[in-house]
Amino acid sequence: MTSPPLHHKESPFFAADRAAYWRHLRELGPVVKIDTGDPLLHGYYLTRRDDVRAALLDPQTFASPPKTFAIQLFGAPLPQVPLSCGTRSEHARFGSVLHPLFSPRALAPFAPELGARAAKLADAVAARRQCDAVSVADTYACQALFMVCGLPPDDTRAHEMTRAAVIGDATGTAQLELVKWLNTSFDAGLTDPERPPGILWPLLERLAGDKDFPLSRVEVVSVILLLFSVAGIEMVSAAITFALLHLARDPQLRAQLREDPAQIPAFAEEIFRLEPPGPGIPRVTTRKVDIGGVAIPARSSVWLALEAAGRTDGGDEISRGSDGKVRPQRHWAFGAGMHRCLGMHLARLEMNSFVSEWLNRIPDFELKPGFTPAIVHKPTSVTHLRRLKLRW
Ligand code: HEM
Repeated sequence: MTSPPLHHKESPFFAADRAAYWRHLRELGPVVKIDTGDPLLHGYYLTRRDDVRAALLDPQTFASPPKTFAIQLFGAPLPQVPLSCGTRSEHARFGSVLHPLFSPRALAPFAPELGARAAKLADAVAARRQCDAVSVADTYACQALFMVCGLPPDDTRAHEMTRAAVIGDATGTAQLELVKWLNTSFDAGLTDPERPPGILWPLLERLAGDKDFPLSRVEVVSVILLLFSVAGIEMVSAAITFALLHLARDPQLRAQLREDPAQIPAFAEEIFRLEPPGPGIPRVTTRKVDIGGVAIPARSSVWLALEAAGRTDGGDEISRGSDGKVRPQRHWAFGAGMHRCLGMHLARLEMNSFVSEWLNRIPDFELKPGFTPAIVHKPTSVTHLRRLKLRW
């Protein structure tokens, strides 16, 4: 690798071999200053697992940078909450309301439908004997979020609207259109006795009826827009795509998971660890800090290498126990501390349902000859594959 180092989003080495990129970054030291390439990506990359973990758990010092959507409501840009909440007290208002909605218990009733939808999508491509798995995974992640939130999962116009809002909507036009559609759909659902179940109804009912509800209407709109435009779709789609990439390359792994589907959740964890859709996340220092002998000034951009943290002890391959079974290693793909991923249980449910239904219907598959997978960094910062051409 050449010096000076580049941020993972710009490094050709990351694109070619992410394990080698993180190894190299770690070798350069616990703190690697990135000052080449896109100035928006300049800053200090923390490369050591323990420093990354400590920074995740110390939001007072390593604050999540304030981010807003491209649209304004009541004259102010809509904040990306709860992601942008800087203090524990500010965040607690959101956490107390949101976490119960996304708990394993709240999500469990949706598991059969998530499986059925994955099965239907796999059935639809099975007869074609080839597909671009990115498009299948995108559709599934979109349908899954809509369904779990109580919205019509097959409304392709709504999918397109969501996609437009996800794909770096600089003007805010697509985000505004999505907000309007979400408002109208949720308002209609609130008064519809026949509405489908959805995890957001209790939130919206409390907002409408409880005068002491801790979140304002604008804050609820912001949270919902965050789920649909930044957090809840592309991340899952990317993880599913990387899972299929690993399976396409490894017939023995495919056979192992087909014969013993109980190993699929462990496999999913290993994919989250080795191919996290958000391999490095941003923070801003609120004071001067010293890490590994490097003084990082206050108000510096810092990047936390979640992927490097997961690879440090877990290694660079899918981990197996002495019995040959997939054995998950600890990882930080969903972050940690105050901002730990709200949707991680949903992501796991989607991933497990999809992989299991896919393997049931398309047990053997491979990369299309001549096709080379290429990594892309989406405007949402998600690390994805541009395409994944499979055949069987
Ligand atoms: C494989 C899939 C996913 C991965 C790897 C992932 C990863 C992450 C990470 C690393 C964070 C922490 C960001 C930070 O600390 O700066 C995060 C936060 C968040 N995620 Fe996810 N995510 C995934 C799926 C989802 C889904 C499906 C949803 C919702 C439907 C979701 C909603 C959120 C929200 C709302 C936050 C902000 C939490 C807060 O600040 O309290 N994510 N996610």
